[in-house]
Amino acid sequence: MPKASSVEKSQSEIYHPSEEIKKSAHIKDFEKLYKHSIENREEFWADEAKKLSWYKKWNTVLDDSKKPFYKWFTGGKINIIDNAIDRHLKTAHRNKLAFIWEGEPGDVRTFSYHALDREVSKFANVLKSMGVRKGEIVTIYMPQVPELVFAMLACAKIGAAHSVVYGGFSVEALAGRIQDAQSRVLVTADGGWRRGKITDLKSIANEAMGRSATIEVCITVKRTDHDVYMENDRDFWYHELMGLPIASAECETEKTDAEDMLFILYTSGTTGQPKGLLHTHGGYSVYTSTTHKYVFDIKDEDRWWCAADPGWITGHSYIVYGPLINGATIMMYEGAPNHPYPNRWWQMIEKYGITILYTSPTAIRGLMRFGDQWPQRHNLSSLRLLGSVGEPINPEAWRWYHKIIGKEKCPIMDTWWQTETGGFMITPVPVMPLKPGSATKPFFGNEVAVVDEIGKEVKAGEEGKLVIKNPWPGMARTIHGDPDRYIDVYWKEYEKQGWYKAGDSARIDKDGYVWVIGRIDDVIKVSGYRLGTAEVESALVSHADVSEAATIALPHELKGNAIYAYVILRAGLNGDAQLEDALKKHVAHEIGPIARPESVTFVDSLPKTRSGKIMRRVLKARALGVDEGDLSTLEE
Ligand code: PRX
Repeated sequence: MPKASSVEKSQSEIYHPSEEIKKSAHIKDFEKLYKHSIENREEFWADEAKKLSWYKKWNTVLDDSKKPFYKWFTGGKINIIDNAIDRHLKTAHRNKLAFIWEGEPGDVRTFSYHALDREVSKFANVLKSMGVRKGEIVTIYMPQVPELVFAMLACAKIGAAHSVVYGGFSVEALAGRIQDAQSRVLVTADGGWRRGKITDLKSIANEAMGRSATIEVCITVKRTDHDVYMENDRDFWYHELMGLPIASAECETEKTDAEDMLFILYTSGTTGQPKGLLHTHGGYSVYTSTTHKYVFDIKDEDRWWCAADPGWITGHSYIVYGPLINGATIMMYEGAPNHPYPNRWWQMIEKYGITILYTSPTAIRGLMRFGDQWPQRHNLSSLRLLGSVGEPINPEAWRWYHKIIGKEKCPIMDTWWQTETGGFMITPVPVMPLKPGSATKPFFGNEVAVVDEIGKEVKAGEEGKLVIKNPWPGMARTIHGDPDRYIDVYWKEYEKQGWYKAGDSARIDKDGYVWVIGRIDDVIKVSGYRLGTAEVESALVSHADVSEAATIALPHELKGNAIYAYVILRAGLNGDAQLEDALKKHVAHEIGPIARPESVTFVDSLPKTRSGKIMRRVLKARALGVDEGDLSTLEE
């Protein structure tokens, strides 16, 4: 975590873009266009929407008659696949590389837009042959292989929705998401490669299918070719289905409505049950492509690498949809950044001539730790822009990224956004002066503020709650199956003003630059991954020896935050190192390795309010040795 003094220093430290960056940028005068976009929000978005292909133009740009359930481009007919694939086939993009993929063992596969269309159409026909229909939610649980992208796009093409579950999640996380989505079809793989080892996804999928009864068909991609259990009548191999006559490369794209569901993506909140944020074809197409194009200044010759996992919103919006709509060449890599050596990423940037790298502060800190000699061995001169996402970037990591990777010529786009927002909300564009650690200013059409409990804006430099004052096309439409929760979590607190509550705390400095500090709810960001304290706690209490559990996040040098657990054991049991280890493993088995607590402390009681709510802030203050604040509601 950044030291206070270094953050203060970075507030007055300014990096200006070079003349070259300014000359080639799509956006030359940010302030002027920003003003226009705020004064004429709907006109701005309609102008961007016109750049896409529509089967039928919309009647209304923004329908706010059922606030906060906003609708965009209603009456319009559009399919994101028509924009991400079909329209490119009619232009010179047809033979352009849509995507370059490298597996961890070093195998390489490339696909032109033409080849991508064939793969997607074939799999779309396979899904149809399994009875998948418009509106149905298909769960996808895969490693980072091309078939993950084909499966997502194939769902969208036939008007079905996808629910991608991150391949690093485990049994309970997968089972809960399948159950909530009521998925009938699961697409998975036998495994993937990570640090030279096989991640055994199919076994996890099998166990999850045992816990949730909805899956009738499971399609498995053969990636690692180890022995896996396949059940008769339920399990099918992807490659076998793709070889059947039903898998024709001709498939018409469904003419979906702008507001038809494109996908749901589960993300952690304040309760144990993750929420499935729902995004739609129209607004999401417009928002992801516009933000991607302007923030990363996308040009035809770019090779774009968003080094996230498609299983998270970053991968959905900026590996898959935004870049493909913009006709870019995308890079995707299966494995760990430091396998077999810490130069793996730098090697690929050199080999493929990557022009833009977009990654997380955790990845940057992790690679920085290995020393400058690894990137310095490689020619990284193809890079012209860099990006950061997922958590606040500490100024030290920012400066290293800027100097050692970007050679002081690549501006860093620090993009603040969320699963809920669909795309970048607070972000620079390349011509903007940068301050290390600040996501700078709101994107076109957006107005943000930092406010107190009653919605009064705090003074420049003071900390408060981050709110967004307006609707935007990429916003999630609801929480799948739970519209009341959508209102409660995001819109209730500032109902009077009609503002969206982000759940983050932030400061805005005297120059209008936004400094995001971190979550203010019970969401933890570990290595940029989003987890809920309640999810980890419910995994802990699902262990036979545990009676109660509380988890908190504490600062961690590499991961940003790490999870610390406090556990009350069942009567008569005593905690020891062996049980601590068993509990950590149990959490990893239930949720995934990212949720594994850093430490488990056995306690006799937990600080609670009189109504029985665990006061996590008290635990946190004690762990950090700081003032415990107001204790008047504490029970004891
Ligand atoms: O706390 C903020 C942090 O990540 C949260 C959203 O997490 P998720 O929905 O998983 O989406 C991550 C990728 C978009 C936010 O509430 N966050 C994201 N980007 C930044 C950030 N915090 C600071 N700076 C960022 N650039």
